Amino acid sequence: MTERIRFDFGNLMASGVEGGVDASVLEGALADGFRDAHASVVARHKRGDLGFLDLPYAAETLSRVTELADGFAQWFEDVVVLGIGGSGLGATALKEALLGPFWNAMTDEERDHFPRLHVVDNPDPHTFRMLLDRLEPGRTLFNVVSKSGATAETMSQYLVARAWIEGAVDDDKVRGHFLFTTDPADGVLRQIGDAEGMPMLPVPPNVGGRFSVLSPVGLFPAAVCGVALDEILAGAGDMEQRCQTDEIAENPAGALAALLHYADTTDGRPIHVLMPYADRLRPVALWFQQLWAESLGKAVLLSGEERATGPTPLAALGATDQHSLLQLLMEGPQDKVVLFVDVDDPGAQVDIPSRHPGIPALAYLGGHSMGDLLNTERAATAEALRRGGRPNATLHLPRIGAHELGQLLMLFQIATVYAGAMYGVDPLNQPGVELSKRLTYGLMGREGSEVPEMPEPDPRWVL
Ligand code: PA5
Repeated sequence: MTERIRFDFGNLMASGVEGGVDASVLEGALADGFRDAHASVVARHKRGDLGFLDLPYAAETLSRVTELADGFAQWFEDVVVLGIGGSGLGATALKEALLGPFWNAMTDEERDHFPRLHVVDNPDPHTFRMLLDRLEPGRTLFNVVSKSGATAETMSQYLVARAWIEGAVDDDKVRGHFLFTTDPADGVLRQIGDAEGMPMLPVPPNVGGRFSVLSPVGLFPAAVCGVALDEILAGAGDMEQRCQTDEIAENPAGALAALLHYADTTDGRPIHVLMPYADRLRPVALWFQQLWAESLGKAVLLSGEERATGPTPLAALGATDQHSLLQLLMEGPQDKVVLFVDVDDPGAQVDIPSRHPGIPALAYLGGHSMGDLLNTERAATAEALRRGGRPNATLHLPRIGAHELGQLLMLFQIATVYAGAMYGVDPLNQPGVELSKRLTYGLMGREGSEVPEMPEPDPRWVL
């Protein structure tokens, strides 16, 4: 059964929360602004820039991913994804949401003999060493994911992994332990893969890292563990269709983008908190954090005007962060909007036993389920924020299934490109990331890179 996810933004509106958006503003300025944003996104799509919108329908890619995932990759016990930023966060989001937090701890039978899956982004030597120490090289596949094929973090991991495999298997078997997901024509990984005959999957040239979750970047790791890709893509396609209208009242991504943009630029609320009430969605919040931050945080507008712009996304988790961030959200500066995600069917029925009838502080819990408690906490927190004049909204998911996740991921990606148009920035580039990369190359001795002069720490300011 497939159901649509619902976006309830009543607590952003004046009818719901003090100081909220007037219906006339939504129907007037925001609807008009959205129509313009939609038109510019449609034009950009027509120019071939927004490849992520086509991914739900990329049948050839789907069959290539499925062929590799169902074929040679099933021979391995452990699949390790090496990728960072957009090349890692999407795979982690799909893994945690659809396989759950204990996939790697399950027995082979519980996993239906699909491999364990590890996604490693940071080149933290402790993590990497601990992971390698737990793997059997002869039964490990490394899926090296880098669109550019140049990212230092991922390439360092590849080099270490390669030496580790070479030390353990025959020379002619080495290439069979690697699968490269990279640009179809350019980059070092593509060169190595071509020269050595590694299996490879393409990241379409018009799909940037943080928009690549529905490309082989996110799909292969999910498919290798038995996730139904067609359902993810059908969900994403449904959302893409829903968002073809330029009527803000019918377009959930348009409404989300317009309301968050308004909150930042008109209402002084640049901090956008995404707070799912489900452990399995925590990585989706981290994925969204990167998508919103890297796409919208820019120093130069498309018009050429130099003006630092962009909201600050913050990933949170309900109910955990009710005991951490909520005090700030309730009483701190009025500079935030909270976007909750709740899930009607929590995926497991855990009833709370009735005990201690004489102790009211425990007795009320009996007869409810843990799912009831979590959903009630979300509703109560939204209401508490509303009463405190703190705008918030909720995305309701019927369940955390492949179809729903496809819808959710597509919703956020489309909202991001709409928001890019509203802010007047290019959501597809990330020039601000480049300087630290260049400094790293120089300091690490990459040929052709300028070695930067680094100031010595000033002893006055070091305690
Ligand atoms: O969204 C992006 O473009 C970035 O976060 C990249 O995904 C990240 O820098 C990794 O790049 P690459 O895939 O080239 O290794």
